[in-house]
Amino acid sequence: MAQKNIKKGVFITFEGPEGCGKTTHAQALCDFLKGKQIDCVLTREPGGTKAGEEIRRLLLHSSGIEMTSLTELFLFEAARSQIVDELIKPGLKAGKVVICDRFTDATICYQGYAGGIDIGSIGSLNEVATGALKPDLTILLDVDTATGLSRAMSKGFDRMEKKEIGYHKKVRDGYLKLAKKYPERIKVIKVDGSIEYTQTLVRREAEKIVFRKHKRTK
Ligand SMILES: Nc1ncnc2c1ncn2[C@@H]1O[C@H](COP(=O)(O)OP(=O)(O)O)[C@@H](O)[C@H]1O
Ligand SMILES: [Mg+2]
Repeated sequence: MAQKNIKKGVFITFEGPEGCGKTTHAQALCDFLKGKQIDCVLTREPGGTKAGEEIRRLLLHSSGIEMTSLTELFLFEAARSQIVDELIKPGLKAGKVVICDRFTDATICYQGYAGGIDIGSIGSLNEVATGALKPDLTILLDVDTATGLSRAMSKGFDRMEKKEIGYHKKVRDGYLKLAKKYPERIKVIKVDGSIEYTQTLVRREAEKIVFRKHKRTK
């Protein structure tokens, strides 16, 4: 089957506010692509590597540890640098589809638009941490802030999720601004239907890019 011959990798990221369905849909897309005999790796940020998972624990599941937005920023970028070198770039080089649950846009929206750190500075740090690697496709799952938070809450809040609702509204607005700025890369999918319906829309976007790239590299 043609899909087996993909030579060059495809990098897909999932973004969006808390509880929008990133983890659910990233996993479902990976399973779907594997079912089509496409070599696919699923990972997440912060995390995905041993160092990254330790940083994740500190960022999301530590209690009684105060951190400024700048401290958070450097920790996210440290985990990012590690996952790019250890997992994402080798995967892409080997021709895999690499799916990452959150990436650089999350830092722009959380620590930047919501946390108040200069967006340009975050952009520069993102460039350094990733060696200027950009996703081929970013699926932005957009959900109303209150709905998303109540879905996330059902699993117990982590450190970022515990921030006040105004913070999360700024995150969502930030994502929508980024989508307007990079319409070629970021595709917005409104999460207002069933999981199955949303996944159909996700697959539609992913198939376009996976098979377009494939044709170019055949
Ligand atoms: N259309 C939908 N797409 C994704 N998740 C949905 C949808 N409708 C309801 N949900 C529920 O919302 C939750 C999303 O959780 P999750 O995938 O962990 O989100 P995130 O990783 O973005 O925080 C899940 O419990 C899921 O069952
Ligand atoms: Mg998740």
